[in-house]
Amino acid sequence: MDGKLTVVCGRTRSGKTLSTRQALTTEARLLVFDPKGKWAELDRCRAIHSRRELYDIAQAGLKGRFAFVSANVADFNFWARAAYWWGYISKLHGQRSVVVAEELSAFTHPGKAPPGWHLLVTQGLEFAIDIWSLMQRPAESDKTCLGNATRLRAFALTRFQDCRYIANELDCDPAEISRLPPLHYVERDMLTGKLSRGQVRANLRKAG
Ligand SMILES: Nc1ncnc2c1ncn2[C@@H]1O[C@H](COP(=O)(O)OP(=O)(O)OP(=O)(O)O)[C@@H](O)[C@H]1O
Ligand SMILES: [Mg+2]
Repeated sequence: MDGKLTVVCGRTRSGKTLSTRQALTTEARLLVFDPKGKWAELDRCRAIHSRRELYDIAQAGLKGRFAFVSANVADFNFWARAAYWWGYISKLHGQRSVVVAEELSAFTHPGKAPPGWHLLVTQGLEFAIDIWSLMQRPAESDKTCLGNATRLRAFALTRFQDCRYIANELDCDPAEISRLPPLHYVERDMLTGKLSRGQVRANLRKAG
């Protein structure tokens, strides 16, 4: 079965990371781009600090939970390409895999996606890679990712243009997006068209 691309957007502290962590607590093959080191600290992910180490994991299609800790734009592109090959090789072993890109708007632009990331979001789903892409403002992130989303989850957004843009994608009222309380979201399955609403329960270990 093909992978899924879930786009999660919302203002800071709205629940993006928490809801994604909760969805992925039991994943045995997980590779996160982790600028704040949260996944490495809280989610039983092995912290990866060098490209060499990441390369070795990818080319072996190694099973495990890994968090590449970096806030460097060039590292993001390297990670995305490595994630693609890691998922591709995992699929050759008959395994699905999951990748998470945190804070996407810091590493991509509304224009063209970096090539490694472009490869991952345009070709990765075919190799059973589930991609979770987290961003505060969709307007600041690349359109390739949004255009390929199979699920769109929106927490509260502040700016009216952002609410209108996402509401248009979700086919709901922009005011609903702006009024969402923290940890509440609206989401659409872009394949079936089904719209649903949910709330994140804070039942995971917290930083600090
Ligand atoms: N394990 C937890 N238990 C209880 N509350 C939590 C937990 N983790 C995070 N929170 C709270 O939930 C809210 C959302 O946190 P989260 O890290 O998901 O935000 P976010 O949308 O990813 O924000 P940012 O864009 O700043 O990364 C915050 O108020 C945070 O303090
Ligand atoms: Mg976050």
